[in-house]
This record gives sequence, C-alpha cells and structure tokens, in this order.
Amino acid sequence: MSITRLARAAIRDLRPYEAAIQVDDTIRLNANEAPWRNSADHFHRPLNRYPEIRPARLRALLAERYGCAPENLLVTRGTSEAIDLLMRVFCTAGVDNIVTTFPTFSMYEHYAVVQGAELRQVETDGDNDFLVAAESVLTACDDGTKIVFLCSPNNPTGTLVPRDTLLRILEDRKDRSIVVVDEAYIEFSGAGSATDLIPSFENLVVLRTLSKALAFAGARCGSVIGNKRIVDILDAVQAPYALATPVVECVENALANESLADAEHCVAETINERARLRAELEKFSFVSRVWPSAANFLLVEVVDPAALMLHCAKDGLLLRHFAGQLANCVRITVGTPEENARLVESLGRLEDKDG
Ligand SMILES: Cc1ncc(COP(=O)(O)O)c(C=O)c1O
Repeated sequence: MSITRLARAAIRDLRPYEAAIQVDDTIRLNANEAPWRNSADHFHRPLNRYPEIRPARLRALLAERYGCAPENLLVTRGTSEAIDLLMRVFCTAGVDNIVTTFPTFSMYEHYAVVQGAELRQVETDGDNDFLVAAESVLTACDDGTKIVFLCSPNNPTGTLVPRDTLLRILEDRKDRSIVVVDEAYIEFSGAGSATDLIPSFENLVVLRTLSKALAFAGARCGSVIGNKRIVDILDAVQAPYALATPVVECVENALANESLADAEHCVAETINERARLRAELEKFSFVSRVWPSAANFLLVEVVDPAALMLHCAKDGLLLRHFAGQLANCVRITVGTPEENARLVESLGRLEDKDG
C-alpha cells in the first residue's frame, strides 16, 4: 500500500496549483505581471516576473549536494516551512498525534499546536547524554501517530540518533508513521546523513537546511528529502512561487564550488572552536556540566543560570536559557574564535566576582 495513505484524506489527491506557463523568448501576457521593471529592481533576474513556480535548477543543485535525485527533494523556505507542511499534510486536527523526544527543537510542538495535532514527548535523560531509546519512542506511538520527529544532532542537546535506533524505529513504523530525521546540524557532526536509507524506507523523510553550515539563515532555504510520492504531496500543498527570485539567485551562487569551500572551512573552524570552548567552560566553578555536542552549540549546566544570563547580557553577550527540565542549562552557540574568547573573558570576570 502506498505511503500516501498516511496523508489526510482531503489532501491525498490534491493537484498542484496550476500557474501560468513561463516560456523564454515569448511575450508574457498570461500572468497579470507588470511589463516594466521597477527602478529599484537591480537583480539579475527581473522582479516584475513571478519566479519559477518551483526552482528547477536550485532543486537540482541541492539534490546533487545531498546525494539524491531531484524528484526526491522539495525546496522549502527553511526547514521550518518543511515542518509546517508535513504537519498539515499528515495530521488531522483533533485526531492524529506526533511523537517527539524531549528536550528537542520546539518548532515541532509549535506546528503541532497550529495544526491541532496531539504532541507526545518521550523524555531523554541528561545522565545518559540524552540518548534516544527506540523502545520508548515506539511505546509512545499508536494508530494515530502520523509523524515521529527525530532531531539528529538534536537541538538543544547536541546528541546524535544512532543508526540502529533509527533503523529500529523506521522498521517498526513502516506503513504506519512518517519518520522525520531533522539534520539541520549534521555537517557539524562528522556523521553520515540518513538520506541513503530513503530507497529502503518510504516512510523516511530527511530535513536539511542551508541556515547553519552554509551560513544562509537569512535566505530561508531548506530541503525535504524523501520518497517521490511524499515529495509530490508536499509540493501540491506548498504555496506557489514559494521561493523568491533574489533568494533563488543568491542560493544558486552560494552553491558554486568556491562558496562551498569557504563554508567547509568555517564548519571545520566551528568544530575546533567547539572543543576548545568546551574545555574552557569546564574550568569554571559555576559550570557543573558541558554535554558533548555534534552541533554548532554546547548545552551547559550551571549553578545559577539567571545570574549568568544577566552577567553576559551586561557584557553584550546573548545566550539561550530554557525552562523546565533544562532550567539549570544554557545553550551557547559556538561563535568565531574572537567571540568565544570574549565569552570566556567575560565568564572569567564572573568567576572572579563570585570567587
Ligand atoms: C533542529 C532544527 N531544525 C530546523 C531549524 C530551522 O531551520 P531553518 O532555518 O532551515 O528553518 C532549526 C533552527 O534553529 C533547528 O534547530
């Protein structure tokens, strides 16, 4: 049976929006566009014309980057849009549920609430490096579980989901749930992507983004990678002309080899800085624990997070503090060597004051 059976009944047979056709070297009188360019339009591709309904070249470039066929990839406005689309396609309000681990990226919860899907969270334990246990995830699932979200490396813990855990969940939920692996931070981990499993598991969806390793958060460009049938349904639901012309233009340029080499260098520097910063942080008496991280941030347990946040804010340094289970923790993004040095210096002053 096709995996599309898991989609909401109303959406299963939805056809994509039919846009006015775009043909080079023709007079375009079919889309109610302005025939003249705005004097503020300095882009290479004219903005008086709608963008391609789906950016074919960008899709091909991203598919090449992620090692999949273009038909298995949908370009989205960041991974955030992909999460929203998945929720809207697969979850019926008041009926279906999603399963996530906890703590994890809060956007899964956000879009579950927007869609009216029940949220089921499977606790992970800081004393066990927040490792995800396949059996706990599977126990939380039932017939109404349409999506299992696994974030690897996980935000905010930096933990990877081991391959055998993923395989166990994919196998058990085959034909029953979409299993989403959010790989927003995978480039900082040294681990391989789960995309190679897509031919074997039609319930697997992988999310990638240019916001982190490519330093393109402002461009809003992500990818959903999965079985063609899933990609086609998401495509039918996504807004027409979702990717703006300047974004397509600048991201295509970013994917040129030279910019990729720059980005790879910066990722390598972040990985080095992560180790250095972790070692520095562990020296402070008010830091009780720094978890190992496969991402571009560190989760740090401290004695008095409110005092730490205040001290850093006064020094012009912004950190992230969470509530609940992580109330004693702050998440620190790894910055440039200079920014990290500023942070360590500032924390040194806090240590002197406390000491
Ligand atoms: C785990 C995870 N997934 C997705 C995103 C969103 O990324 P994007 O900028 O592609 O929407 C974030 C952003 O911080 C994230 O931490």
